[in-house]
Amino acid sequence: MGEGGRSGGGPDLWSAVDRYLVERLAPEDATLEAAQRESREAGLPPHEVAPNQGKLLGLLARLARAHRILEIGTLAGYSSIWLARALPPEGRLVTLEAEPLHAEVARRNLERAGLAGRVEVCVGPALDALAQLVAEDGGPFDLVFIDADKPRNPEYLEYALKLSRVGTLLVADNVVREGAILDAGSRDDRVQGIRTFLERLAAEPRVTATAIQTVGSKGHDGFAIALVTAEG
Ligand code: SAH
Ligand code: DHB
Ligand code: MG
Repeated sequence: MGEGGRSGGGPDLWSAVDRYLVERLAPEDATLEAAQRESREAGLPPHEVAPNQGKLLGLLARLARAHRILEIGTLAGYSSIWLARALPPEGRLVTLEAEPLHAEVARRNLERAGLAGRVEVCVGPALDALAQLVAEDGGPFDLVFIDADKPRNPEYLEYALKLSRVGTLLVADNVVREGAILDAGSRDDRVQGIRTFLERLAAEPRVTATAIQTVGSKGHDGFAIALVTAEG
């Protein structure tokens, strides 16, 4: 096998394949590279989606013909850039971030990307912002990307549904966690949050959903994807 004998599979092979795919199909421009760099320099954790995953989010947004996107978990605005670039000129992304430093780095990155006018970064606990959005009838969104604190995923699902219409696409990141989600007795509240989230998604009559595993530069993880098919 080529690529230096990575025939055993595993993380090195996944990363090599990601480099190959990203180089060809999802190359980062200077703006996305700068967003990553600024994030690292500010000491933020490397928890943003991979470039090919970011491009997938953008493709999903375009498939959904999204004009209004809600993102829960901004970090440095890396996935926000991919999503906001998929919007038409009058489209809007609302992104929720608890950490003031993360929000500040994200605002700078979105400004540099020329997307500041299209993106609203809301600082504070996502549950507060979501309650406020519901209270002021701030929905519906066409796509909701759930990617913040995993223990609260079940609550985020409830709010996402309240802020949806028939046809809204829900996407959640990190639903596999290197297979840790298989452990029903896990004491990791992130694992329990994802398990409950997936069970609620499966039992939820208003959606049809699936989940897929991903491997690549971000390790072994996965996305859940749900389409809202009925009113609440
Ligand atoms: N979507 C980003 C990555 C998000 S990482 C990307 O792919 O580029 C998860 C983010 O959620 C972190 O920035 C973290 O500070 C934020 N977060 C954690 N708990 C939160 C909460 N309760 N409300 C809002 N944001 C939260
Ligand atoms: C974590 C969170 C993420 O959103 C991610 O993509 C990777 C890791 C985390 O909290 O560990
Ligand atoms: Mg994530």
